[in-house]
Amino acid sequence: MTGIFYFSSTGNSLYIAQYIRNKIGGDIRYIPNAKDKISFYDKVIIVSPIYSFGLPVHTYDFLTSLPSDIKVYLILNYGGMTGGADRFAYELAMEHGVGLHAVFTLKMPENFTLTFTPPRFYSNISIKTAPKKLERIIEAINQDKPAIPKPKKMKKETYFKNRNNWHLIAADFSVSDKCVSCAKCVSLCPAGNIELDGGIHFKDKCIACLGCYHRCPQKAIVYKKRKNKYRYVNPMISEYDIGEDM
Ligand SMILES: Cc1cc2nc3c(=O)[nH]c(=O)nc-3n(C[C@H](O)[C@H](O)[C@H](O)COP(=O)(O)O)c2cc1C
Repeated sequence: MTGIFYFSSTGNSLYIAQYIRNKIGGDIRYIPNAKDKISFYDKVIIVSPIYSFGLPVHTYDFLTSLPSDIKVYLILNYGGMTGGADRFAYELAMEHGVGLHAVFTLKMPENFTLTFTPPRFYSNISIKTAPKKLERIIEAINQDKPAIPKPKKMKKETYFKNRNNWHLIAADFSVSDKCVSCAKCVSLCPAGNIELDGGIHFKDKCIACLGCYHRCPQKAIVYKKRKNKYRYVNPMISEYDIGEDM
């Protein structure tokens, strides 16, 4: 049985997971809720964004916890530069005795957009070209060919340095008077970092996914008081499915 495990804050990884499931079958599982679900599967496909040339905390922990007798495929999607994250993930898996069989990378729209608005043209191109690239990845998975990323310059130090600072991102968030206390941000935060207590409050466990920032229906979460109005969710999925098993 194939389990397609994904982490996603703005839907790119969910889109990829759904595309793959529609072609090869299997169950879609959200990584932050995946504890204890792994024993059902003998083949695991992980779909995750790249964060700071490495992996989001949840993907990192999930990948390194997998037993060695499961065949694992990893599909990393990114907005601009992989920075050797594919090789980084491969070496990490080897260190932990994980049976990582193939690693693929795929460019998708950028969501680390706290300080700029990416030209719509680039996002549209990534979305338009994704199916063709996904077909090649699916073919490789079906043929069961190993795909091992070649040794390359990795930005491991940058990753660990940035990861140590991710918890500070929310310290630069404020909530504008557009907030209607719907608490959507509270329930979608995969780190349990947001609470509603007479207003929205951020704790110190932010994992920098930016889900709250992008998906607030009022655009009420503001970074460093900037007036940037750009928010992103992958247009090919239903936003309410992000975080769901299916
Ligand atoms: C904290 C953070 C760090 C990121 N780091 C990188 C990076 O190093 N390289 C890159 O190309 N994209 C980076 N991105 C962009 C995402 O990898 C990309 O937009 C991805 O497709 C988002 O997937 P999702 O919609 O499933 O969350 C980063 C995004 C976030 C939130």
